[in-house]
Amino acid sequence: MKIKAAVINSVNEPYVMEELNISEPNDNELLVKMVASGMCHSDVAVRKGFNEFPLPIILGHEGSAIVEKVGSNVQGFEIGDHVVVSFGYCGQCDNCRTGIPGSCYDWSEINMSATREDGSAYFTREDGTPVTRFFGQSSFSTHSIVGSSSLTKIDKSLDLRLFGPLGCGFMTGSGAVLNGIKPEPGSTIAVFGTGAVGMAAMMAAKVAGCSKVIAVDIHESRLDLAKQLGATHVINSKNENAQEQILALTSGRGVNYSVDTTGVGQVVRTAIEVLAVGGSIAPVAVGKDITISTINDLAMKNRNIVGVLMGRAIPQLSIRQMVDFYEAGNFSFDKLVEYYSIDDINQAEADSLSGKTIKPILIMDESYQPEVAKS
Ligand SMILES: NC(=O)c1ccc[n+]([C@@H]2O[C@H](COP(=O)([O-])OP(=O)(O)OC[C@H]3O[C@@H](n4cnc5c(N)ncnc54)[C@H](O)[C@@H]3O)[C@@H](O)[C@H]2O)c1
Ligand SMILES: [Zn+2]
Ligand SMILES: [Zn+2]
Repeated sequence: MKIKAAVINSVNEPYVMEELNISEPNDNELLVKMVASGMCHSDVAVRKGFNEFPLPIILGHEGSAIVEKVGSNVQGFEIGDHVVVSFGYCGQCDNCRTGIPGSCYDWSEINMSATREDGSAYFTREDGTPVTRFFGQSSFSTHSIVGSSSLTKIDKSLDLRLFGPLGCGFMTGSGAVLNGIKPEPGSTIAVFGTGAVGMAAMMAAKVAGCSKVIAVDIHESRLDLAKQLGATHVINSKNENAQEQILALTSGRGVNYSVDTTGVGQVVRTAIEVLAVGGSIAPVAVGKDITISTINDLAMKNRNIVGVLMGRAIPQLSIRQMVDFYEAGNFSFDKLVEYYSIDDINQAEADSLSGKTIKPILIMDESYQPEVAKS
């Protein structure tokens, strides 16, 4: 079958729309029609060559899609199901069985291979060249082949275009809080950086019952939005000393929890230094290494650094949880998105990098109408 996809042919080159062939799903796979997809910083990282992958590649890993074909061994899905697409995992290894499928032993083979184990390609050019599938989904495409572990069904009454970003960026932020540092009701938290990941962390902290949710950024417009979404206090660290302000807001003791989503060394340091005795930080951003004193920064203060990959999430649980929070009015991630046509993918990425757009969502299926609009 012919499909249309945004392809990266070499590092630092822009996305190019191409017509490609997609294979038939095997017995363990599904064919899905992508309706839309969020764009995440990890897509940019691959395009710019920070992570190495076999090229050409179709990026995108925050898809929302409709099931078109179901392999004979696949259980629990039907043609026409609406799904959010996240990463795939084996479900059998120790890490999957202990609830950390983002660290599945077979993660790379499942999510980052140009071909299946038997050597057959998911996507090919006319001349037979395989085009690599990304994160088990390659959502910057009109169609994809996916495994069932990547899929979370959502209700057909929801506007499917909106929900793809729950598969990575928003899951990373909310999971860093709910599965990583796990703040108790009444505790205090500071979130550094109010992009997609930081805003999700902040909203999750509010859901968890944190009494003070302090958002720090250098863009006033983002801080205004942070306030609307539940930050109890905002600090523009361009104009104010974040450390002094946070200590002033917490009777000089510091916050119980912090999350860094900036990846800026000095900011990560501040996010550690503002922690009270016994506090924990989740540094989730891609950034340069920093130096810490294991005694003075950590042991003497009983502080913890918590590594959290992909929100330490089980996608099927975390996505459903975020949908529930959204419907209850506590996770208004719809305020963070801007829609673009897939044909404008390069502009969408530029707007995300300039800070103009927090979470771009690309539309692959212009004919899709949510049920509310149809009725
Ligand atoms: N650990 C994981 O599993 C995982 C998964 C997805 C994304 N990420 C990473 O999380 C990070 C955040 O992603 P995002 O999409 O929210 O990015 P983003 O760029 O939208 O957000 C970062 C925010 O930090 C702010 N910022 C930058 N410098 C600052 C400074 N000096 N002081 C205060 N604020 C500052 C920016 O203004 C921006 O609002 C990225 O590095 C991304 O690659 C990690
Ligand atoms: Zn991502
Ligand atoms: Zn596994």
